[in-house]
Amino acid sequence: MNYKKIMEDIYWVGKVDNRKVPFHRLILERGTTYNSYLLKTKLPTVIDTVDIEFSREYMENLTKAINPEELRYIVINHVEPDHSGALPALAARAKNANIVTTELGASLLKDMYKLHNRNFIIVRDGDELDIGGKTLKFYETPYLHTEETMVTYGVEDKVLFPCDIFSTHIASNELFNDLAEDEYVEDYKTYYKLIMSPHRLKVRDMLEKIKELDIKIIAPSHGYILRHNPQEFIRIYDELSDIKEEKMDKKVVVVYSTMTGNTAKLAARLEEGLKGAGVKTTVFDLKNAELAEVREKITEADGVLIGSSTRYADMVGNTENLLKSLENEEVKGKFGAAFGSFGWSGEAIMHIEDYLRKAGFTIIDNRFILHSSGVDTQVFPLRVKFAGEEGMKLAQKAGRIFGEMVLTH
Ligand code: FEO
Repeated sequence: MNYKKIMEDIYWVGKVDNRKVPFHRLILERGTTYNSYLLKTKLPTVIDTVDIEFSREYMENLTKAINPEELRYIVINHVEPDHSGALPALAARAKNANIVTTELGASLLKDMYKLHNRNFIIVRDGDELDIGGKTLKFYETPYLHTEETMVTYGVEDKVLFPCDIFSTHIASNELFNDLAEDEYVEDYKTYYKLIMSPHRLKVRDMLEKIKELDIKIIAPSHGYILRHNPQEFIRIYDELSDIKEEKMDKKVVVVYSTMTGNTAKLAARLEEGLKGAGVKTTVFDLKNAELAEVREKITEADGVLIGSSTRYADMVGNTENLLKSLENEEVKGKFGAAFGSFGWSGEAIMHIEDYLRKAGFTIIDNRFILHSSGVDTQVFPLRVKFAGEEGMKLAQKAGRIFGEMVLTH
């Protein structure tokens, strides 16, 4: 391992990991690289580090390029240990450096590495930092692929440092994509599908944010630095994340029974979230609907959200009759989730989940969402006390997440 010049003042100081690397319950058969970057400006800056296993090697290598005490900034775009792992070793030597990251990133890094006494600079969308004759601009990119993530743009050099985004897991000693001897574009797409696709809407948001940037080089955290035709790699993300009109054929049914109208309000917000995700949505109020018609729509759909108010610790209206009738239908492979407003205890939601599970639905709950997308959230089952604005926002978010789960599984 050695440092390598990328362009004037910018050096690669990363690590090529040729092993079969365990990662997110996968084995990276072709290894990976941990790309850390040194910007040797008047206020020298490092962007991201390497996996913790290579801390010592990283520091030895970096020290060949610069005395760490000269560093003024350490930018951490993403806290996962393959990016921030060498931060404790680096921070110990770079005593004069401020750590630049998002608010959540700072909170996590302080706890992970006991850095409470270090000086952090918190950056938000569009903030700029002068690093001594050059400017870094930051964009928050939450959930790409974890909540605290951001990307960094070198304004004068037109280099985007997008951490995991636009990465490829491949161990290559050739830094640049125009020097690649292997076919890597399929690996690039596979990486997108595995890491980014569960967050499709966030990818769309990110693409919108970086649209204004003039990007000459994409310098990601893994795999090749994309200096040949970087726009093509942005286009691939655009294509893969864009669910075209003709693909929008996923259907979800929202059905509910309500006592005072609060569960109906939740259903309306769920519908907004589902439609926002690009899912065809049909809503039934069980008070006015024929059970046979509702059942038929559910059997034709990809998922169902069933809601009920809670009265005397039980479901209300025709909810239980509908759920019982679904036990005889072919629903294996469909997604289901429960929701409802309540005043005291909200047991109806649990009864609905029990019935859905017994009928054979795959239950979308917080565990399923975390397991399949890495998003740590508390949305399902959706239990909302009465119907305050916070609950309504949560319902809209829940609808969007349910829609994304249906679209991406
Ligand atoms: Fe490259 Fe999210 O770790």
